[in-house]
Amino acid sequence: MSITIEPSHPEFVAEIAGIDLAQPLGAADRDAIEAAIDRYAVVVFRGQTLDDRQQIAFAGHFGPIHASAQKARHRGIKHRLESDQIADISNLDGDGKVLDLNSRRRLDWLANRLWHTDASFRAVPGALSMLYAHIVPAEGGDTEFADLRAAYEALPETKKAELEGLVAEHSIWHSRGQLGVTKYTPEEIASLPPVPQRVVRTHPGSRRKTLYLAAHASHILGMPVADGRLLLLDLIEHATRPRFVHAHTWKQGDLVIWDNRCTMHRARPFDTTQVRDLRRVTTRDIASTLEQAA
Ligand code: OGA
Ligand code: MN
Repeated sequence: MSITIEPSHPEFVAEIAGIDLAQPLGAADRDAIEAAIDRYAVVVFRGQTLDDRQQIAFAGHFGPIHASAQKARHRGIKHRLESDQIADISNLDGDGKVLDLNSRRRLDWLANRLWHTDASFRAVPGALSMLYAHIVPAEGGDTEFADLRAAYEALPETKKAELEGLVAEHSIWHSRGQLGVTKYTPEEIASLPPVPQRVVRTHPGSRRKTLYLAAHASHILGMPVADGRLLLLDLIEHATRPRFVHAHTWKQGDLVIWDNRCTMHRARPFDTTQVRDLRRVTTRDIASTLEQAA
C-alpha cells in the first residue's frame, strides 16, 4: 500500500497514512515523507508502535541525529532514557515516577510551554524533531504549531525590510529565566553559552523565506536589549495569531515530525500529576543559520 497525504490546515500540517514506521523504510517512501515535510512543515502519523531504537533508526533516514543536551544540564541525577540520541519529553523521573512539583527537571521542562523552536540555543540548531507518544493524559497536553513561513509572508514590506540581516542572541537560560527558573550551576550554564541566529532565513526544503523565532531569543545584536526584546515579542505575537496555528491533540501511538527551521511549537497545559510520556529524536541542521543563506 502506498502512503496518502491529507492536509490538516490551509497553510501547513498534513496527516500521512498507509505506512508502518517500525518496518524498514524504502527509498520511495522516505522521499515522499521528506517532500511532505518540505511542503507542510508538520506531518502526523497515527497508530505507530515504536521502541526507542526504532524511533532513532527512523529519524536517522532524514539526517544526522542531534545529541540531546538534557544530560549536560541535569547533572548528577538518574535519567530514564539511556541514549543521548533521544530526549525525554515526559513528566517522569529516572525511576519512571511523576516528577515532584518543585523538581528541577519538571521546572526546566515547563519551558516547553513557551513558543519555541528546538535547540536554536545551540550553534548548529535542530532541523527535524520527531516526537512519539507512549502515554498521553486523558485531557489537555496538546502541542500547538505555528507556521513561520506564512507569518513572514504576511508581514508588510516595510517590516520585512526592517528585519533584513538582523541577528538575535539565543540562550536556553533566557527561556527558563522568563519563568523564574534560574537554579542552574555555573557548570551547567557554561555548557550552553548564548549563540547568534538569523531572524529571517530561507527554509531550504521549500525555498520560502521564514521567520526564525523562539523563547530562547533574548535580544537583537547591535540594538538596545529592550528594543530587540520588544521586536521579538511583537514578532512572536504576530506569528502565533490563530490563522498561523494548528493544535495537535495526542493519541498514544502518534508520531509527529516538525521542521524547526520554519515553525515554532509549544506544549499546552494538562494535569501534571498524570503521566505524559513523549520522547523526541531531532536531526541536526547543517550549520549555524549565520552560515546559511539568509
Ligand atoms: C519538544 C516539545 C512539546 C510538547 O518535544 O520539543 O517542545 O507538547 N514538546 O511536549
Ligand atoms: Mn520543543
